[in-house]
Amino acid sequence: MKEVLTRPKMGYYMNKDVFGTRGDFITSPEISQLFGEMLAIWMISEWRKIGSPRPFQLVELGPGRGTMMADILRVFGKLGVTGDTLEVHLVEVSKSLSEIQASNLCREHGSAAESDKHPFYYRGLTDREISVFWHKSVEQLPEKFSVIVAHEFFDALPIHKFQRTSNGWREVLVDVDPQDSQKLRMVTSSIPTPASLLLIRESETRDHIEVSPSSGALMQFLAQRLEEFGGFALIADYGHSGDKGDTFRAFKKHQLHDPLCEPGTADLTADVDFSYLKKAVGDKLISFGPVTQHEFLKRLHIDVRLKKLLASSTKEQQDELLSGYKMIMDEKGMGTAFKFMCFFPSVLAEFFISHPVAGFYPET
Ligand SMILES: C[S@@+](CC[C@H](N)C(=O)[O-])C[C@H]1O[C@@H](n2cnc3c(N)ncnc32)[C@H](O)[C@@H]1O
Repeated sequence: MKEVLTRPKMGYYMNKDVFGTRGDFITSPEISQLFGEMLAIWMISEWRKIGSPRPFQLVELGPGRGTMMADILRVFGKLGVTGDTLEVHLVEVSKSLSEIQASNLCREHGSAAESDKHPFYYRGLTDREISVFWHKSVEQLPEKFSVIVAHEFFDALPIHKFQRTSNGWREVLVDVDPQDSQKLRMVTSSIPTPASLLLIRESETRDHIEVSPSSGALMQFLAQRLEEFGGFALIADYGHSGDKGDTFRAFKKHQLHDPLCEPGTADLTADVDFSYLKKAVGDKLISFGPVTQHEFLKRLHIDVRLKKLLASSTKEQQDELLSGYKMIMDEKGMGTAFKFMCFFPSVLAEFFISHPVAGFYPET
């Protein structure tokens, strides 16, 4: 998965704009500006609740086209959170996507000479004088109070697949088809592999599971940073709480696609196991959720924002706003397939009993 998605020359994300009607898939922030705006309101509200620590860094993992960050920064600007309060740090493996993000976010931008002192490969400045930095990995992020957001990022991180067999758990591997050397196929390992010995819980009851140790390691790293330097993280993705099996799939031109066919030409994805992310952070962080996208956005009063936007829009804009809203809130589609989970340093556990995190609890 890692090779197929992020290999420097041939990787799926590395050389093209893969989003939107002309691409392979569309994401909530690309469908409706309401999505990024509601996330911005949530971030500011939680940041204020814990005393508005400043300056802070706003971090996005896998920013796609930069659309969600642009919507977030617009709301931040309206609420007076601008360049003297924050820096933006984007973790993006694809140079070509980072250029698209920069042209959507910045009035000036360009490559930077990456060094230990300056661990970023690209930088820019927005209209509101906010500095934006691009990093290849989370390890390069500055050690500061961070507000972290990741939308449809964890589903792109590599997984291991395991099948329960009469001989015990076996890893599912990818092999060249012996009948046709141009084709790949899935095989079940004949003997236990290091991953099958290490990654499966004794208490596991499912017959097929997917585990993403890269996601676990990333969460552990973020947990350490958030515990030591302060901050919080909001993760949104399609996923489950440790109860789904085979979810690995590919998308090409908005259709399901065989993940082993022409690797590098289609998006690969697997549902995020939120219970695994929660386990990975141990007792460093407390978590809330997952809650469905529909619930989360409703509780943040997306309907009020929609109404306000509709009142100042043309008929054409109103149609677009309404169809976007329907799509991201659809309880038979994106509204329930996507879920939100957030993480805060455990030291705040007691504080949140009297100040519940917005969007994660029904209002009383
Ligand atoms: C499915 S897209 C989501 C884009 C965006 N968040 C949205 O919702 O529209 C995944 C994003 O993560 C980036 N990405 C994937 N794997 C990555 C990795 N290992 N490290 C950093 N960025 C990665 C991709 O280049 C892309 O920007």
